[in-house]
Amino acid sequence: MSEQHLDSFTQQQKQAYDRVNQYLLDALNALPFTDLPLAQAMRYGTLLGGKRLRPFLTYAIGSMFGVSQENLDAPAAAVECIHAYSLIHDDLPAMDDDDLRRGQPTCHIKYGEGNAVLAGDALQTLAFQLLSSAPMPDVTDKDRIAMIAELSYASGLAGMCGGQALDLDAEGKQVNLESLERIHQHKTGALIRAAIRLGAFAAGEKGQQLLPVLDKYAQSIGLAFQVQDDILDVIGDSEVTGKRQGTDAEHEKSTYPSLLGLEAAQKKARELYHDAIDALETLQSHGYNIEMLSALANFIIERKS
Ligand code: IPE
Ligand code: IPE
Ligand code: MG
Ligand code: MG
Ligand code: MG
Repeated sequence: MSEQHLDSFTQQQKQAYDRVNQYLLDALNALPFTDLPLAQAMRYGTLLGGKRLRPFLTYAIGSMFGVSQENLDAPAAAVECIHAYSLIHDDLPAMDDDDLRRGQPTCHIKYGEGNAVLAGDALQTLAFQLLSSAPMPDVTDKDRIAMIAELSYASGLAGMCGGQALDLDAEGKQVNLESLERIHQHKTGALIRAAIRLGAFAAGEKGQQLLPVLDKYAQSIGLAFQVQDDILDVIGDSEVTGKRQGTDAEHEKSTYPSLLGLEAAQKKARELYHDAIDALETLQSHGYNIEMLSALANFIIERKS
């Protein structure tokens, strides 16, 4: 399909995808030891497949505030480094013990567990190397530090890692809905919110002022994203998701379909979509163009991969 036949959301998504991939490739290639299995494992876990949804969010939010792309490359890439590291570690035998990711053998199957652990570690530090030292010509040092504080908080015990620990602890147990939402908001929601906040911080004061409404949008799409991930584990096509089906049930994971049933989980995803749209209407009332963010919320609950 030629680009002019793609709708503008798909076009922007592709643009963000290509842009962050090139940036990540350059950043990875600028590191030493490019031939080491560790370096290969980092490239494999970062660049082979995947949607680049979090970078897209950073670009979309920044662009909505009029920030130019060159200021958004480093934060977009940094969030994706953390995400890639979280997936590599999530698949390890000590965690979800998965052998298929993005239609390929998982990182530890391909490069060994030691390299997979280290690839995650080194991607995490690469995220903060980029965020602290890569050029962001129009971003003040104060806003750069706010980005570093945000991403570190969202990645650690208070965010993704904390959520992953709660997820592991809930295996084999029947947790209540409130606990499940807490797991999902931490393991997945925190990084999605960080991707959004980083785009807003790049815009300085303008972005900071709208954080409460951006957080409301983030909270809705972040949870919806993981609800849909849980749904796809039940009814998705492994050829399309690139992941094995049914592994949540095998590990007796607490998920929305396991707790509520499939239909109620799908209804929950639609409700969250509407919550996200409500938040966007507030943004629109401030004069911002919400077209991309609204299409993205729809994409999250309609996606098949
Ligand atoms: C998968 O995330 C893990 C979750 C947080 C649900 P994505 O579905 O964004 O994975 P990729 O990057 O597109 O492979
Ligand atoms: C993982 O959730 C969230 C992360 C922080 C990586 P899942 O364990 O459901 O993600 P998948 O299904 O393996 O991608
Ligand atoms: Mg997991
Ligand atoms: Mg998993
Ligand atoms: Mg899953």
